[in-house]
Amino acid sequence: MIDNIIREDIEKIKSELKEDDFAEKKVLITGGAGFIGSWLCDVLVGFGAEVMCVDDFSTGRMKNIDHLTKNPKFKLIKSDVCAFQSRDKFDFIFHMAGHASPDEYQKHPIETLQTSSFGSANMAELARKSDATLLLASTSEVYGDAKIVPTPEGYWGRVNPIGPRSCYDEGKRFAEALLVAYHKQYGLDVKIPRIFNSHGPRLREDGLYGRAMSRFIMQALANKPITVYGDGKQTRSFCYITDTVTGLMLLTISDDAKGEAVNVGSAQEVTILELAKKIKEMTQCSSSLTFQPLPQDDPRRRCPDTDKLEKLMGWKPKIPFEEGLKRTITWFSSKGTT
Ligand SMILES: NC(=O)c1ccc[n+]([C@@H]2O[C@H](COP(=O)([O-])OP(=O)(O)OC[C@H]3O[C@@H](n4cnc5c(N)ncnc54)[C@H](O)[C@@H]3O)[C@@H](O)[C@H]2O)c1
Repeated sequence: MIDNIIREDIEKIKSELKEDDFAEKKVLITGGAGFIGSWLCDVLVGFGAEVMCVDDFSTGRMKNIDHLTKNPKFKLIKSDVCAFQSRDKFDFIFHMAGHASPDEYQKHPIETLQTSSFGSANMAELARKSDATLLLASTSEVYGDAKIVPTPEGYWGRVNPIGPRSCYDEGKRFAEALLVAYHKQYGLDVKIPRIFNSHGPRLREDGLYGRAMSRFIMQALANKPITVYGDGKQTRSFCYITDTVTGLMLLTISDDAKGEAVNVGSAQEVTILELAKKIKEMTQCSSSLTFQPLPQDDPRRRCPDTDKLEKLMGWKPKIPFEEGLKRTITWFSSKGTT
């Protein structure tokens, strides 16, 4: 689905990039029917790239990309990334496939680990055969419950290897190590953005797929209680989708970022309670706040140190927290519930 907010935001992203860097390139996007992946599909097709989207629709949605399916520059392949084979050669591979919602990945820990391990190994081999640039969607969760916040890339992480989140964070840590090994051994051009919480149109809000931001907004729009985990003093930083996608695409073409892990996210740290209150205020809802037990191993603080991103790219996320939040709320309120 493409609407005015998404259309405007795609143009905003395109205005920050150079068309020539992507036009006519052959691009593979795994997880292209998902939240972030579908934005990449839109921007790259908009730039005249030839895009192949591989998705198993485990968490992705056809409605995110159905407007692209008639475009001759866009090809959709329904497949598990672990099994996907291709004789095509690509310039860029964006490996976005993954299970990003904590409730959902904890329900599917084996598939989550397989996508990060076998799926990443499959993409690394394909990139090597193509001599493609390979970008892995890594995550702030590789830092676990970080002791240093804002967290720089040099921080090694504090992760419970057998905890409920380990399928996700250890899977991504393995994928990072694998890509760095391909870079060292074969000179493959790999990019490892560690993405911090992103939000915007197409973020799933339903059932196990919902994230705190989308869940709170939907609860507020329905005047239902907003469910905060723990005391709400845990922090996150929320990056609007235009900034996330711009950061990923700039990283892809950067020579200075070859073989590097780079934080991509907003440096504005907010508590979950502040987020809930801000959503209450902006939606003018009558929802109460209710408190539920904090899930095991939930990180207390999460906020990126973005110095490396700024130094390498000469760019940093631009959309202030309230502005991005307003846009996400406007989008959810215009589309109603699913
Ligand atoms: N959204 C965030 O805030 C965030 C933060 C950190 C990292 N990430 C990472 O970015 C990537 C995209 O996240 P998202 O928020 O767009 O999630 P999403 O769930 O919306 O998208 C993931 C896509 O991958 C697909 N997929 C999952 N396993 C697959 C497999 N084995 N084979 C083929 N397709 C598969 C899903 O169907 C979905 O379309 C993920 O890898 C996630 O770990 C996201």
